[in-house]
Amino acid sequence: MELKITCIPGDGIGPEIVAEAKKVLDAVAAKYGHVMRYTDILMGGASIDVHGVPLTEEAVETAKSADAVLMGSIGGDTTTSPWYKLPPNLRPEAGLLAIRKALNLFANLRPAVLYEELAGACPLKKEISAAGFDMMIMRELTGGLYFGERKTVEENGVRKAIDTLTYDENEIRRIAIKGFDIARKRRKKVTSVDKANVLDSSRLWRKVVEEVAKDYPDVALEHMLVDNCAMQLVKDPAQFDVILTENMFGDILSDEASMVTGSIGMLASASLNDTKFGLYEPSHGSAPDIAGKDIANPIATILSASMMLRYSFDLDQEADAIDNAVKSVLQAGFRTADIMSEGCQRVGCRQMGDLLTERI
Ligand code: IPM
Ligand code: MG
Repeated sequence: MELKITCIPGDGIGPEIVAEAKKVLDAVAAKYGHVMRYTDILMGGASIDVHGVPLTEEAVETAKSADAVLMGSIGGDTTTSPWYKLPPNLRPEAGLLAIRKALNLFANLRPAVLYEELAGACPLKKEISAAGFDMMIMRELTGGLYFGERKTVEENGVRKAIDTLTYDENEIRRIAIKGFDIARKRRKKVTSVDKANVLDSSRLWRKVVEEVAKDYPDVALEHMLVDNCAMQLVKDPAQFDVILTENMFGDILSDEASMVTGSIGMLASASLNDTKFGLYEPSHGSAPDIAGKDIANPIATILSASMMLRYSFDLDQEADAIDNAVKSVLQAGFRTADIMSEGCQRVGCRQMGDLLTERI
């Protein structure tokens, strides 16, 4: 089959990790008889440097014309990079928010898994990590505080900033449906996370999630307040299967969950709309401090490519080939710097890509 993929190498370590992901995808294509058609677009700082804006209309159109988008990372050092002297709507992150909105990518899937081989990197006590964990954070991605009206004004000489948090029931329902659908393919439990003891948007969230749950009698639903969820993630992460939550809570909880795995360089993510189209990217950032040094971990991007094959192209066998290659490389003791431990062999970004390619 022919796979039309738009790539966004982006900033920082983005170009190096996307290059490795393409290498692995090419090996998959060769083995299973597919044709990969890549088109690169600029986004974030890379686009600012060329076009003066973090995302152009043409780039969005190119992305729309593909079957899926594979992204590295965007953004730079917020204290030193000139990109952060620009007005907020022209900074690298604005490009990411704009493409999410333009492609209607309302469902963000962020798996947080404790890899057996990397259990030593988990910062939790052994008594806790021994149970292992494997959760999917489902974050609403195109609503809430991120896209509400915002402004900064001055009233009687006092500066005041306003951000608004809005959700309508349709926005809640469509992400809830995705959450329950995914739970059905997993361990059939949804933890819906909100702040219903304070926020109206959370009270509506809870009601709509309960309505959706009626269509999924085989899936267990529980509600959890976001502050409690932050605690539970470090106290007993094994209790979670699918965490379903709004944009801002999901941003924060997914970083916490990834840190708890001890290996953020391993975590993939998918952002989906209501068709098969999706944007796939690692959960980590652009790590400008290590860019260009061939020490970044490409695995999160490569696993994002695997999610792309699975969710956008229904190529489960091919996705399994990538996931198994990752397991095999870890079992053989190869590690990039971020997941290095005693007795293992340290490899760079390119070599990790080569080792994975050989195993496809
Ligand atoms: C993420 C990032 C983005 C977000 C930033 C870069 C705007 O933190 O993807 O989690 O907050 O969504
Ligand atoms: Mg984030």
